[in-house]
Amino acid sequence: MSLIKNAFDVNLHPMNFENSRTFAEKLDETDDLSSFRQEFLFPKNDKGEEQVYLCGNSLGLQPRAAADYLKTELDDWGKWGVEGHFHGKKPWFHYHKFLTEHTAELVGGKSHEVVVMNQLTVNLHLLLVSFYRPDGNRYKILMEAGAFPSDMYAIQSQVEFHGFDYDDAVIELQPREGEYTLRTEDIVASIKENAEELALVFFSGVQYYTGQFFNIAAITQAAHAAGVPAGFDLAHAAGNVELKLHDWNVDFAAWCSYKYLNSGPGNVSGVFIHERHSMNPDTPRFAGWWGHKEDVRFKMHRGYIPEPGAAGWQLSNAPVFGMAVHSASLDIFHRAGMERLAEKSRLLTGYLNYLIKQAREINPDLRFNIITPDEERGCQLSLLTDENGKQLFEYLTANNIVADWREPNVIRMAPVPLYNSFADVWKVGQAFANFRRAVVRSGVSTTA
Ligand SMILES: Cc1ncc(COP(=O)(O)O)c(C=O)c1O
Repeated sequence: MSLIKNAFDVNLHPMNFENSRTFAEKLDETDDLSSFRQEFLFPKNDKGEEQVYLCGNSLGLQPRAAADYLKTELDDWGKWGVEGHFHGKKPWFHYHKFLTEHTAELVGGKSHEVVVMNQLTVNLHLLLVSFYRPDGNRYKILMEAGAFPSDMYAIQSQVEFHGFDYDDAVIELQPREGEYTLRTEDIVASIKENAEELALVFFSGVQYYTGQFFNIAAITQAAHAAGVPAGFDLAHAAGNVELKLHDWNVDFAAWCSYKYLNSGPGNVSGVFIHERHSMNPDTPRFAGWWGHKEDVRFKMHRGYIPEPGAAGWQLSNAPVFGMAVHSASLDIFHRAGMERLAEKSRLLTGYLNYLIKQAREINPDLRFNIITPDEERGCQLSLLTDENGKQLFEYLTANNIVADWREPNVIRMAPVPLYNSFADVWKVGQAFANFRRAVVRSGVSTTA
């Protein structure tokens, strides 16, 4: 058994962690997944030192293999021109299929329940077209308060499109007074309470600001008991936490590929539509030629016949270059396995949690609350800071640590199990321990 396995027990008993470089390096030495780090390109600072990159929650690092995957398609384009649709190594005519198996594996779906297409917000709209169907008194959408702005805008425009007013049609669920995250029991109770008026329950999987990993199965079950579908934005969940979308009975979900899925800025999005909807040709949708039944797609007939499964939601022909890069990353996930990644992630984030809390105990200049719940999280930790939080964030940046800042006062840090090491996390703990607040004297600000 590897030390990681033993250390996993340590994770359950954080009292046994040690704050030392040797301890961190020992964990790295015995980590079965440590070699994956070599498969990524790390940005460097101006002294040429690799950065401690904890920003995979925003933009994941580039897989070294991405360039080759992309080149294969550029070469096929050069060699075949239009015939690349049929004669390339991976014919573009059904390019999305080359990504399907690994995508399904990643989110716990069946292969006909997933497809890669478009970008995230576009897909959310397409899914809302199918699953937000107000009917009489049932027109409300229940979602978490403080959802990612693009989701709020998408939901707002959808309810307005159907003639409703956002403040009336959208129930934004707030945490209890004095709490930062939602309790599952409160989400379930609220769904029950509003059942008669609901048309849809829509949540994120992992909340972008707090890092809370919602109980997707429980939310879905409650939505179904209320007679409405449950949909999820998994931008911060896909590639971060283990998902079992089919077994959890989720109706629909979408995610982007540029965060934990390391596929580059603005790249394609994945979609899950449970087979009870996606295999039903009568499920309403907006259509385009790429979702038309594949064997007759090029017959150019009138009358839309959807391809069975989530593939029947495609509109346009596949953006092959972006998908090629995405497929480089999906292949890495396939080799690493989400279960092993999640196991390492619990340990790695547990270690970061332990180190920065310890630093806070000895360093009175550190004032923050970790608002991400211990029992409901992926790899992200969100630190709610006080009015000096920006200073701590800038200090981390100056110390070669890439975290991110979310207004009004949260620092997010995400040690990613694919490419972050325990030694990375230990360095972050050291930096926290050495932080000194800037002293502001007669307009002059200095940091010790
Ligand atoms: C939770 C969440 N939803 C939606 C989006 C928007 O994604 P896109 O710009 O790919 O549509 C983001 C982007 O970061 C996000 O974090």
